Amino acid sequence: MEKILITGACGQIGTDLTFELRERYGNDNVVATDIKEPESEMKESGPFEFLDVMDAEKMHSLVKKYNITQIYHLAALLSGTAEKMPLKAWDINMQSLMNVLELGRTEKLNRIFWPSSIAVFGPSTPKQNTPQTCVMDPNTVYGISKLAGERWVQYYYEKYGVDTRSIRYPGLISYKAEPGGGTTDYAVEIFYEAIRKGEYTCFLKEDAALPMQFMPDAIKATIDLMEADSASLSVRSSYNVAGISFKPEEMVAEIKKHMPDLKVDYEPDFRQDIAESWPGSIDDTVAREDWSLKNEYDLERMTKVMLEEIGKKLK
Ligand code: SER
Repeated sequence: MEKILITGACGQIGTDLTFELRERYGNDNVVATDIKEPESEMKESGPFEFLDVMDAEKMHSLVKKYNITQIYHLAALLSGTAEKMPLKAWDINMQSLMNVLELGRTEKLNRIFWPSSIAVFGPSTPKQNTPQTCVMDPNTVYGISKLAGERWVQYYYEKYGVDTRSIRYPGLISYKAEPGGGTTDYAVEIFYEAIRKGEYTCFLKEDAALPMQFMPDAIKATIDLMEADSASLSVRSSYNVAGISFKPEEMVAEIKKHMPDLKVDYEPDFRQDIAESWPGSIDDTVAREDWSLKNEYDLERMTKVMLEEIGKKLK
């Protein structure tokens, strides 16, 4: 039986992923870790340990303590936060990855999952249907750290045989845990503000198209990739995953079908520049061919579920 350790388990991806993996592999086989206090449901449903991902020794001791065979390393600073503290973000995002990769090598872990991002692309990257392999010239600290990380995960696979797997996530939309410090966060924030106040000020322009994905699709994609036969995987840097692409104004129009009185205005800040450097849509043919990636949610279905679930939460 696989024994899994998740870093950043209280984050946006980690929260959904921890519960799904516990469901699948058994509660006791999924060790959630984070630097912050977890929600009671996470603490009560399985093992939880405090872990600062910069503390390689503690990470090592947890791998030993629980006989860990797989790590999902999710802890990181996102794009907006990283621009405010570039050196710290570089340090945390890179050093923590190196700590995990080294453990993969020395402890002969079966598998490592590490998230990359559409942030690896930059101004010279083809904007629409961005191919799996193309020019990548990220101009954000977060994007630079993700691109460097992609090279390192591939390096550990090729040189040391560590079975690393990765997805270039688009913006992720979910209702369990809120994202923090990202450029795509508007697409989650808007639901909370719409329900709480009936109005929202968007920090991107109305036509800033970005690729996004609903969390249930992202979680399924992640687990499917981790469970795929190693021989079928042709990419060991990170897989493009497209999800659904839309502009803020298109999401607003969709929410307005349910909340016609919603008022939205646009006050783009520094994150607009980041959004402009990223693709508007992604080509994920390689992922579809290698491990049968498939999304279930479109903008309409996702919006309906988000409104229902966040509505229940804020009641
Ligand atoms: N959603 C992330 C961000 O906006 C991108 O990976 O920073």
